[in-house]
Amino acid sequence: MNSKDFIALEERYGAHNYHPIDVVIAKGEGVWVWDVEGKKYLDFLSAYSAVNQGHCHPKIINTLVEQAKTLTLTSRAFYNNLLGEYAKFVTEYFGYDKVLPMNTGVEGGETAVKLARKWAYEVKGIRKYEAKILFAEGNFWGRTLAAVSSSTDPDCFEGYGPFMPGFEIIPYNDIPALEKALEDPNVAAFMVEPIQGEAGVRVPDEGYLKKAYDLCNLKNVLLIADEVQTGLARTGKLLASDHENVKPDILILGKALSGGVMPISAVLARDEIMLTIKPGQHGSTFGGNPLACKVAMTALQVLKDEKLAENADKMGKIFRAEMQKLVNESKIVSLVRGKGLLNAIVIKPFGDKTAWDVCVALKENGLLAKPTHGDIIRFAPPLVINQKEIEWAVDTIRKTIKSFE
Ligand SMILES: Cc1ncc(COP(=O)(O)O)c(C=O)c1O
Repeated sequence: MNSKDFIALEERYGAHNYHPIDVVIAKGEGVWVWDVEGKKYLDFLSAYSAVNQGHCHPKIINTLVEQAKTLTLTSRAFYNNLLGEYAKFVTEYFGYDKVLPMNTGVEGGETAVKLARKWAYEVKGIRKYEAKILFAEGNFWGRTLAAVSSSTDPDCFEGYGPFMPGFEIIPYNDIPALEKALEDPNVAAFMVEPIQGEAGVRVPDEGYLKKAYDLCNLKNVLLIADEVQTGLARTGKLLASDHENVKPDILILGKALSGGVMPISAVLARDEIMLTIKPGQHGSTFGGNPLACKVAMTALQVLKDEKLAENADKMGKIFRAEMQKLVNESKIVSLVRGKGLLNAIVIKPFGDKTAWDVCVALKENGLLAKPTHGDIIRFAPPLVINQKEIEWAVDTIRKTIKSFE
């Protein structure tokens, strides 16, 4: 079978809820992937920042294989010999009292929202079922009904109503709007991404998160940081919140918590918040499974051992400087923005071509990236990338952009 056959098979039998670039990947190692015909590509998306540690990281895969041979799942009906060790490891790693383990990022978001509501009724003293959660316009935290209820993107919410009550949307990167919304005493929490990934790598003004945190703190409102995409060394620090020395009341992690080998998410909080959920009130069959616990510990250890935050910071600076040169030279690239290795360029409309056509041409030239919102291309390679590979990527992007001019 060739690429065309695999695509046809997927189209025929799979739901049409995605529109992938036409490449069928069969193998990955570090920053590189190979298609079924054996052509090699530089992965500049990293499965939406899940593969921060690089494809098939040997230490993570070794942990996965060894643990898979020993014990994979007990459910939480029983204890297992790894959840306690993992809980200690992950809470000490990020400096929180407790962790609640889940699987996907969106379940992490759901858990955070449930915790905030419980805390609102049991600790803050909001009248039953009157709690409000604030979200920022342009947010993305997944595809459940709660997540789409807070979305401002019609592709996400259109046709799925009725929507979750008690959610309020305010503009992103707008402190006066937050200040105003916080006048409502029923606000329990503000859930926000330190940089909006899916919205097209929207980087707020410096100080935004800190000001938001301080304002929330003043009003006894929880700041929930959705670091599912920005966390785990992606932006040049362990957490994007670290850029502003903010310690969110509730922290949501996912994606790279497993180095991309399985869905693992986590919600971290202090006891006052976490202990409002009692036995039987929330959970998941797979959350906290021994395989996930072991994999997450190794994935987190790799981030530190290989100094991936430092590398993301260094490589990101080189990359953005080069992209800025391209912005200055090019007629079709209007902007570069980002932090660490979470970056994006904005493509100006040119004839009948769009960012999609640029991504198809990039693929032909051996670099994989995906457009978002029509005119934005996100560039987020695995954080194990080295300078030579960054230089190759820059040359490839430049050559591809020039071919359109
Ligand atoms: C910021 C953010 N939160 C949550 C999610 C949802 O994660 P998942 O797709 O694992 O449910 C995503 C996914 O892209 C995300 O970018």
